[in-house]
Amino acid sequence: MNSSSLSGSFGLDTSMLPKHVAIIMDGNGRWAEKRLMNRIKGHEAGSEAVRTTVRTCREIGISVLTLYAFSTENWQRPKIEITALMTLLKKFLDSEKKEMMENNIRLNAIGQIEKLPENVRKALKKTMDLTQSNKGMLLNLALSYGGRSEIVDMVKIISAKAKDGKIDPDLITDEFVADHLYTAGMPDPDLLIRTSGEMRISNFLLWQIAYSEIFITDTLWPDFGKEELVKIILDFQNRERRFGNVG
Ligand code: IPE
Ligand code: IPE
Ligand code: MG
Repeated sequence: MNSSSLSGSFGLDTSMLPKHVAIIMDGNGRWAEKRLMNRIKGHEAGSEAVRTTVRTCREIGISVLTLYAFSTENWQRPKIEITALMTLLKKFLDSEKKEMMENNIRLNAIGQIEKLPENVRKALKKTMDLTQSNKGMLLNLALSYGGRSEIVDMVKIISAKAKDGKIDPDLITDEFVADHLYTAGMPDPDLLIRTSGEMRISNFLLWQIAYSEIFITDTLWPDFGKEELVKIILDFQNRERRFGNVG
């Protein structure tokens, strides 16, 4: 490794960066409960960690960052918590527009966007339109997202095409399926991070994480910062990815 391939301030090998980092941002509620605060305070603190993480990934040179912000199952939470989360999301979209433009970040959303409140959908569309030509990093927000719904939607699209005689079953390959998911055109996540220690996937990117390197940290999402993210990427760079082959 020559010194020019080192990302100086981070000590990372820039030739071995994960292209796509996906994060299950978990633990906001526990962070607040530990402080005898309302869960909503935890979500507020969590949105600061989102800002820091987006900035850090852009600085490091990550191409795609997918953040799991709200799952299809999260609609079961108390209405007051859902409303607070949607308000925070709208705030984030409005306040980060400028920084996304300055840092050449393109915003995208995956999930059942039509289920989000209208003001959130409008803010989302506005920021997505504004940032659509940015090429520095793709920030992909998983909102009202469920891996199973994504697969069901894919099956519906493909079977409608088959019914109309537009496709031959022999054409259905891994690539074809991937092209009909919400993440069409994006590389699969190389690195999947989950905060707050839970050893589960919670319906996130079920197809796409087939060969992702998984890193679970006990840190609660609001406490997740730049230093830890860099450490995790360093750990990723020291793993041997075999993809089923021999070392
Ligand atoms: C993650 O934190 C945020 C969302 C799922 C929206 P949680 O709210 O799940 O926090 P815990 O898991 O209860 O601590
Ligand atoms: C996963 O966290 C969803 C998001 C981070 C948006 P949850 O807190 O909803 O997951 P479970 O309930 O612990 O599986
Ligand atoms: Mg949780």
